[in-house]
Amino acid sequence: MKAAYIERTGAPDVIAYGSLPDPNIGPNQVLVKMGAVSVNPIDTYIRNGANYWELPNPFVIGCDIAGTIISVGSAVNGLSVGQRVWGSNQGLLGRQGTFSELCAIDQQWLYPTPEGVRDADVAASALVGITAHLGLFGHAQLKPGEIVFVRGGVGGVGSMVVQMAKAIGATVIATAGGPEKAAICRQLGADHVVDYRAADVSEAVRLIAPGGVNVFWETLREPDFELAVALMGQRGRMVLMAGRDARPPFPVGPFYVKGCSLHGFAMFKASADHQRACAVDINHWFASNQLRSVIDRTLPLSQAAEAHRLQEAHTIRKESQLRGKLVLVPEA
Ligand SMILES: NC(=O)c1ccc[n+]([C@@H]2O[C@H](COP(=O)([O-])OP(=O)(O)OC[C@H]3O[C@@H](n4cnc5c(N)ncnc54)[C@H](OP(=O)(O)O)[C@@H]3O)[C@@H](O)[C@H]2O)c1
Repeated sequence: MKAAYIERTGAPDVIAYGSLPDPNIGPNQVLVKMGAVSVNPIDTYIRNGANYWELPNPFVIGCDIAGTIISVGSAVNGLSVGQRVWGSNQGLLGRQGTFSELCAIDQQWLYPTPEGVRDADVAASALVGITAHLGLFGHAQLKPGEIVFVRGGVGGVGSMVVQMAKAIGATVIATAGGPEKAAICRQLGADHVVDYRAADVSEAVRLIAPGGVNVFWETLREPDFELAVALMGQRGRMVLMAGRDARPPFPVGPFYVKGCSLHGFAMFKASADHQRACAVDINHWFASNQLRSVIDRTLPLSQAAEAHRLQEAHTIRKESQLRGKLVLVPEA
């Protein structure tokens, strides 16, 4: 099979595209013929040597996948040859990744793809969709009628947060960089969009929500606690999920006096059962047209290194180049 893989960590050009042996499946695994994969920032941290865990060598990069089952292990229940599936949480905790024509995946990480939904769309919402669900409903306990503020409403996770919060009847305030991205944010359902390049975010949000927001979702790798604590109302909940090296100042007094809480998490640590519960809602929202993926571009799998360069420029160097997810598909 053809795959995008690394044999050592480093800059994007350590990613090779070439032939690797087809994987064998274990009794609890299925073999998926990949239809589409998507890039996440964590893919670039791992490739660059983040060293969160030991990597197999060669290591196939990538977490997300959608495709079609071509064989099933002897102990697999409820999944069958020919079925379309999607999943995430691969390439993590020592598992092989998804950027290959064939992937052997434990059945617990796969979900049926709703009829009529393209592989590219479910792949592009896999890790980011599960993350948004875990954070909004598992950690922040968002309720209908509440106000959620998301800093980065067109980003991978942010675009999912906007749509899921709307799907349950919350009011959404989002930021976006520039008028074009602000328009995308509105199309996703955001009630209020603040262009962070043109307006003072703090002032704008205070005017929209004078009593404060119920949930503040930070997607940046440099969390702004001053902004978050100032904008949250009584018993506000802040979701924090990025910036391992960040050590920002924290306004302790106003935080505890308002009874706020802070919720940090890493999606890959959620159990398979928790992630499946998220996938059930994601499938429902896809099928009912309440959720869609925002895809910047689709590249052939051979351009995985270029995809990593683009993702790094966007997320790490904040060049703000992308308008949605990067999707890769097998060579024609
Ligand atoms: N803990 C977890 O489980 C978990 C899961 C998924 C992701 N993450 C992490 O969460 C972070 C975001 O992931 P992602 O996939 O959503 O990344 P992304 O698609 O690159 O999104 C980044 C967002 O940041 C916004 N942004 C960039 N510069 C900004 C600025 N100066 N002011 C305000 N907003 C700015 C971008 O907005 P514009 O494009 O509008 O400029 C974009 O919406 C990454 O660090 C990732 O590793 C963690």
